[in-house]
Amino acid sequence: MLELRAISKTWKPLRSVSRILLRGLDVQVAAGETVAVLGPSGSGKSTLLKIIAGLEVPDAGQVFLDGKDISALPPHRRQCGLLFQDFALFPHLSVQDNVAFGLVEQGQRRAVSRAQAVDMLQRFGLGPHTDAKVWQLSGGEQQRVALARALITAPRILLLDEPFSALDAALRETLRAEFQQRIAQTGMAVVWVTHDEAEARSVGARGLRLMEGALQALW
Ligand SMILES: Nc1ncnc2c1ncn2[C@@H]1O[C@H](COP(=O)(O)OP(=O)(O)OP(=O)(O)O)[C@@H](O)[C@H]1O
Ligand SMILES: [Mg+2]
Repeated sequence: MLELRAISKTWKPLRSVSRILLRGLDVQVAAGETVAVLGPSGSGKSTLLKIIAGLEVPDAGQVFLDGKDISALPPHRRQCGLLFQDFALFPHLSVQDNVAFGLVEQGQRRAVSRAQAVDMLQRFGLGPHTDAKVWQLSGGEQQRVALARALITAPRILLLDEPFSALDAALRETLRAEFQQRIAQTGMAVVWVTHDEAEARSVGARGLRLMEGALQALW
């Protein structure tokens, strides 16, 4: 169970007025549950995911995983997988090394990490691309690699930040179904941010809208 308690964040730019993004948010996401988050551009959706992942520090509040406060843990120790809207793969690394990255970061030997990455890529239908550079892949393939990279450390939490916004409609639909299927096998707590309400409804048993700092239940 992922739990946010009273998370607040104000964006304070240097040269203009500050803006409250998150006003004491409380959210619970059970293991195996996917919550979809909608909300206007700039409402703080990505900020919320970064706070869960430990990439941003909230002004107040805590993040719990299975009742344990993980707020002070660095990102690589939060058992959190993260997918950004713009893929965010490492362009200078091969597909294989992108996927192995999380394991190496956790201290696993490079050869072992690579072997596990290859295994994972084969299950993702990306076997022929293991030695390719990331820029040689299509957008859809890159996003599959990003999911493989996020899942290789067997995280307890998965955060998706508009994972398909750069893809065309048909591919979006195919990948959504594939991602849902893979995610369903893992039992993770999933927060799926999207602009697309149809996508949100098909992935999220629960839908929330972030607006003016508050989360409103949509379904
Ligand atoms: N590090 C930062 N640099 C610049 N702006 C920031 C930063 N952190 C927060 N902001 C501001 O906070 C607001 C929320 O940003 P955030 O990226 O969380 O919104 P979002 O809901 O994900 O938007 P979008 O739907 O466009 O991705 C924006 O207005 C943004 O300008
Ligand atoms: Mg965003």
